[in-house]
Amino acid sequence: MQVTEVLTDLQYRDFKLADAMQLVSHLNAREIQRDTTISFPLNLKDAQWWISYVNDCAKRSNPTEHHFAIQVDGKLVGSVALINKVEHRAELGYWLAKDYWGQGMMTDAIGHMLEYGVEHMGIHRIFAPVLPHNKASSRVLEKNGFEAGGVLKDYFYKDGSYINALSYVYLSK
Ligand SMILES: CC(C)(COP(=O)(O)OP(=O)(O)OC[C@H]1O[C@@H](n2cnc3c(N)ncnc32)[C@H](O)[C@@H]1OP(=O)(O)O)[C@@H](O)C(=O)NCCC(=O)NCCS
Repeated sequence: MQVTEVLTDLQYRDFKLADAMQLVSHLNAREIQRDTTISFPLNLKDAQWWISYVNDCAKRSNPTEHHFAIQVDGKLVGSVALINKVEHRAELGYWLAKDYWGQGMMTDAIGHMLEYGVEHMGIHRIFAPVLPHNKASSRVLEKNGFEAGGVLKDYFYKDGSYINALSYVYLSK
């Protein structure tokens, strides 16, 4: 099932190949590299491959991941996704271009993604690992009903070092 069949909010849509240039530009931005462990896609070819991959995933009958593109005036400005679905569990990932921070956009996007994951992917437990310095990321999770579950030691490997993660968990009602 395509996300657009379920979510009619015009702010969210599936990725399309025409997003590839913007995807590269946004993910290579200093703030996104600093605050996430995304290291890919970094070039146009990788971005095009990734977009084809996520679109194929979305078409499967029981997808293990779903990625929404967040758009403003038709242009890609961010993404929210559920990935690594196993049984009733999955992981949440998200990013937004800096120009759009602080307007409540990701709080809203995560709310939509939780609803989609529970209602259309059969997910009950959603996990999100956050870099300890990333207060805004912790906050958007807390505002959506996630609970802090402690420190995951050496969870990430970034720029040649192991880094702790803060664990956040959401359980559907
Ligand atoms: C994290 C991110 C998605 C937040 O998106 P956003 O649309 O700006 O978030 P919102 O506007 O919905 O909410 C941000 C909240 O964090 C708070 N916040 C922002 N910076 C903060 C800081 N340094 N300390 C404490 N709180 C902070 C805001 O005040 C707001 O909370 P409030 O509504 O209670 O005032 C965005 O900053 C981003 O894409 N960052 C880089 C990528 C990233 O971190 N991805 C997540 C990886 S786990």
